[in-house]
Amino acid sequence: MADTGNSNRENSAPLNGAGALGASAPAPDSASAPATREYTPRFAHIVGWGYQVPSKVITNQDLEQIVDTSDEWIRSRTGIAERHVAADPKETTSSLAIAAARKALEVADVPAAKVDLIICATTTPEYSFPATACLIQDALGAVNAGAFDLSAACSGFVYGLSMARGQIIAGDAEYVLVIGAETLSRIVDWTDRETCVLFGDGAGAVLVAASEVPGGILACELGSDGSGGNALILPAGGSALPTSLETVSSGQHYVKMDGKAVFRFATRVMANATRRVLERAGYTPADVDLVVPHQANLRIIQNSVLNQLKIPEDRVFVNLQKYGNTSTASIPIALCEAIDAGKLHPGDTVVFVGFGAGLTWAACCLDWRTPVERRSTDWWKATRRQATYGAAAARSVFKRAVRWVYDVLPTDPEAPAREDVRERTPADGKEAAPVKPREKS
Ligand code: ACO
Repeated sequence: MADTGNSNRENSAPLNGAGALGASAPAPDSASAPATREYTPRFAHIVGWGYQVPSKVITNQDLEQIVDTSDEWIRSRTGIAERHVAADPKETTSSLAIAAARKALEVADVPAAKVDLIICATTTPEYSFPATACLIQDALGAVNAGAFDLSAACSGFVYGLSMARGQIIAGDAEYVLVIGAETLSRIVDWTDRETCVLFGDGAGAVLVAASEVPGGILACELGSDGSGGNALILPAGGSALPTSLETVSSGQHYVKMDGKAVFRFATRVMANATRRVLERAGYTPADVDLVVPHQANLRIIQNSVLNQLKIPEDRVFVNLQKYGNTSTASIPIALCEAIDAGKLHPGDTVVFVGFGAGLTWAACCLDWRTPVERRSTDWWKATRRQATYGAAAARSVFKRAVRWVYDVLPTDPEAPAREDVRERTPADGKEAAPVKPREKS
């Protein structure tokens, strides 16, 4: 699938501040608009960013104690030195995602109530359902937002950006939160040295906003090849292999990977997807100021971005040595660190490119326009923000309580009470006794 961008380099105007990237006026109503009316073009800009990783760090030396591996092997084959792992059971995909999303909203200085859509890209959702994005929506108090999870493995964050851009350009959303969040440590077999050394946990989030300022996400390139699905798979727990004693005891709930096949695939698609997305945006690899690639393996990045595309090392941001492969979270975490490191400036041409299970790949090209200097946090705003999150938690508790009340007190006086309903469904499957009318007290 390809997403045609509106590249607008000549028309692009520098911004005076983050406020200039605020939401544009709502799209005109086509029913009432005269046929000749010209519509204001809309652009999708990243205006907020944040990340969160668990505090527990596992080094290569720590792994030497667990499996038959060595720091030297891991560094030379992958570039990874350490990774953050959600050791505390309270740290979950949603808790990391919520923290990252709050930071993104803070950077953008946008209240959660203004968010129209939350997309959580993840391979380790909190549950099969409800969507992790809905848990995030509830915790943020994003009362006006739709929410869904996106499953495209490590390419998921860029897929999410493409969806966000589409929603914004279509006029259906002003603000979209795109989050990549993972607790891969929970699905990794810690006795399998071929996978456990690679992955880490974390979350990264960006707020994408509608704007009339030309630039932002210019073009996206999404791809898939399901014939390679077996190369990277979590076999059990879905409809093909539902959870059973056998699936658990045979380790079918852990990541299975054909590392060499994924490596070959990744080096091919990273370069091709980058070339195609740049072409669509009207650029060449020589125009790129910064590539933020999926942080899976340093050799994949060297082989594809540096060697095949000839993009110099100082224009490629790498932080996998600290985090390992955090799947959907790797690009947004790297983006945040690139900003913190002063690698990104308004006017830069930026590429995000990733690959993952599916097999999938995705790239997007941005004309970055948002000011990146740190803004001092106004104590009043920070306090107000905390209060809104407290209110969101209280609202959530209240709504659960209301649901509970509705559940135990039937609103229709003729409807059977809960105990009566239970009588209708005896465990032995025999015909139920007649339902006794509920006695009114
Ligand atoms: N420590 C020591 N030795 C190891 C380890 C380890 N942790 N893991 C594997 N080995 C051994 C292998 O058993 C093999 O031994 P053998 O020669 O005796 O059989 C030897 O090292 C070489 O293995 P290779 O597979 O040739 O190693 P390679 O150079 O291909 O690197 C790696 C392996 C790092 C897994 C690489 O193939 C890779 O990075 N692949 C891509 C993986 C990836 O990115 N996955 C995530 C995709 S994104 C997503 O959707 C989550």
